[in-house]
Amino acid sequence: MAIVSMTVNGKPVTADIDPRTLLVQFLREHLRLTGTHVGCDTSQCGACVVHVDGKAVKACTALALQADGASVVTIEGLAQGGELHPMQAAFREHHGLQCGYCTPGMIMTAVDMVNRLGSDLDEATIRTELEGNICRCTGYHNIVRAVEAGARAMAGGALREAAE
Ligand code: FES
Ligand code: FES
Repeated sequence: MAIVSMTVNGKPVTADIDPRTLLVQFLREHLRLTGTHVGCDTSQCGACVVHVDGKAVKACTALALQADGASVVTIEGLAQGGELHPMQAAFREHHGLQCGYCTPGMIMTAVDMVNRLGSDLDEATIRTELEGNICRCTGYHNIVRAVEAGARAMAGGALREAAE
């Protein structure tokens, strides 16, 4: 067993875990933060994306111990003060989901995308950046529109700017 400590959605957590515990297992099974999903066993689908020290990470591909001392944000940590994060609101506004299974990872990837590349994202860039996230419902059209709108909203623009 090994002691791991990190901050998750702003709260400090410490646990005694099997050193082989994946970060996604730690979040889902130890902390019951089940918004982070597992959609594959090949590191391809991106349903498990969280932010570790501000960067998007596939939590199925990292050990919890690798996040020791880090600040982790999951989909549960995006909304603030009862208000959806602008990217979450954009996915709702633009129907950027069908079954919703891929949605937490899509949103965490989208927020990371805006943080790295800024809010003025064209469709080709969004599609390229979403390469590591699979939507098995294949709702990519609305997902791209949602990311475009969410990016603008993160910069202070109106959510409906990118509406058809
Ligand atoms: Fe992590 Fe699919 S569950 S990439
Ligand atoms: Fe169903 Fe993307 S909305 S997998």
